[in-house]
Amino acid sequence: MTSTSPDVDTAMARVIADENEHVAHNYHPLPVVISRGEGVWVTDVEGRRYLDLLSAYSALNFGHGHPALLAAAQEQLNRLTLTSRAYHNDRLGPFAAALAELCGKDLVLPMNTGAEAVETGIKVARAWGYRVKGIEPDAATVVVAHGNFHGRTTTIVGFSDDPQARDGFGPFTPGFVGVPYGDAAAIEAAITPSTAAVLIEPIQGEAGVVLPPEGYLRAVRDICTKHDVLFIADEIQSGLGRVGETFACDREGVVPDVYLLGKALGGGILPLSAVVADREILGVIRPGEHGSTFGGNPLAAAVGLRVVEMLQTGEFQTRAKALGEHLEARLQSLVGEGVTAVRVAGLWAGIDIDPAVGTGREVAERLIARGVLAKDTHGQTIRIAPPLVVRATELDWAVEQLRFVLAG
Ligand SMILES: Cc1ncc(COP(=O)(O)O)c(C=O)c1O
Repeated sequence: MTSTSPDVDTAMARVIADENEHVAHNYHPLPVVISRGEGVWVTDVEGRRYLDLLSAYSALNFGHGHPALLAAAQEQLNRLTLTSRAYHNDRLGPFAAALAELCGKDLVLPMNTGAEAVETGIKVARAWGYRVKGIEPDAATVVVAHGNFHGRTTTIVGFSDDPQARDGFGPFTPGFVGVPYGDAAAIEAAITPSTAAVLIEPIQGEAGVVLPPEGYLRAVRDICTKHDVLFIADEIQSGLGRVGETFACDREGVVPDVYLLGKALGGGILPLSAVVADREILGVIRPGEHGSTFGGNPLAAAVGLRVVEMLQTGEFQTRAKALGEHLEARLQSLVGEGVTAVRVAGLWAGIDIDPAVGTGREVAERLIARGVLAKDTHGQTIRIAPPLVVRATELDWAVEQLRFVLAG
């Protein structure tokens, strides 16, 4: 289970050096080169095994190589992979029907990456604002939250308040108003007759698994209904079982007008995202106004259908809830032992590291040497999101590795 840091002569160091030679440096990966994955475990090029506590930022909710998902992909690979939406394919309809039912909505607009789902949600909100609500042409606004992370396109980074995400990439798309996260009154104060939508993460993932105060989502729901504004929930990282419910909005029994989904929807096999809403909202998009060559492709739809079927059993949500409570108890025992705070929702946790121990990055690097993969965010926070197939004993072992690392 344990490993050592790569020194310059290892095969791993050579692979990293080769990669750095030709891959743009838009990431600063942790120094580990993975070549195989199975369930919650991955193996590096030198044969060392690690417990994957990140799950590709929750895209691997079902773990690496889940047999049911691989079977769905392999069966579809042999039949048909891509048609474009110039034609119909026989997988998109069943996938959309199942996903719409899971969400309790009428329609699904399939895309690929999370950022595309967010962009699509913004276009849908604007079109709904003009065509249904009657907002003046080109005047629609969307209220967003400070500390948000919705992806990397120029429009999306334009309404981020993270300088690293936005500085140097302007000019930006107008029409977004930022308010403090967790403050429902601030949302209401920002709403004008031109507001088409409120776009928030029900839990802010990249910000460090930041949970809003109890009642926030219900208040946002009520405010949006009162002012005839769409409530768009970005559940790309928080959704599909991660928090012990199908959606993070379920924690407050809230149903948004629009779900944005991605990451785990593709089963950790390929990119698949979607906007899901009722007909009177998503029906505003007309042929030719929006699309994507790969969006709704039969391979992704086949995998997505299996993902939805797996979620329909409720098994993964139940696991995430029970194991999340187990994890939270273990993590709370680290507070004061090199950890200043923990925030947990299901199998998703933000762990604030005491600066006296080191930075989040340093802790993540030391964890590699103990056979655990986790990722830092915003300097002092370690974010963990193990595959939902993890066992309690594996979580216990991982927390003990963290305790060891924190003890220095
Ligand atoms: C809440 C949220 N929205 C959108 C995205 C963007 O997804 P993608 O990286 O697939 O474009 C992310 C990615 O981390 C996310 O966490």
